[in-house]
Amino acid sequence: MRISEEIWPRPVAILTTVSKEGRPNGMTVSFLMPISFEPKYVAVSVSPRRYSFQNLNEVKEFGLNVLEKSQKKLAEVFGTLSGRDEDKFEVAGVKPIKSEAIRPPLIECPISLECEVVFMEEFGDHYVVIGKVLREHVRKKEFEPLLHKSGDFFPEIKV
Ligand SMILES: Cc1cc2nc3c(=O)[nH]c(=O)nc-3n(C[C@H](O)[C@H](O)[C@H](O)COP(=O)(O)O)c2cc1C
Repeated sequence: MRISEEIWPRPVAILTTVSKEGRPNGMTVSFLMPISFEPKYVAVSVSPRRYSFQNLNEVKEFGLNVLEKSQKKLAEVFGTLSGRDEDKFEVAGVKPIKSEAIRPPLIECPISLECEVVFMEEFGDHYVVIGKVLREHVRKKEFEPLLHKSGDFFPEIKV
């Protein structure tokens, strides 16, 4: 059994990054967790095979955009295509939003966090990436989160 089938449901977010030339990208993540209240830190686990990983090495900043249930289509586009081949913002029809403190843009969703990478280390087949939250955008306090189990399975659980 895969670990993603053992520990679930997990919230889904789009991790936004930018290349050193300034080309933005986003990838869907569900291996994510809060780490600290004050200062605020979050962790995500990113495979080195992702194009986003290359961006994170070049520009040590990311946006974490927490999705709601109605944004499943967005999670699929950003979680199946690669920024190597496509402009996912264009494919998904979403307009990148300019961040205040970081170079990667944000995505319209209930909560976006602007983060600076403070730690990045290999653990097995992924890298743990820890971000210090520099700015927060809470557009909705009450929302139904999009949840993920594994692969293309997004469980519907009443929260
Ligand atoms: C719901 C969902 C959750 C995902 N979670 C992660 C994750 O936490 N870490 C990861 O490395 N890949 C994760 N992926 C896979 C990447 O989003 C996917 O490989 C993406 O196409 C990478 O894009 P990029 O090459 O533009 O970086 C997830 C995919 C989906 C659909």
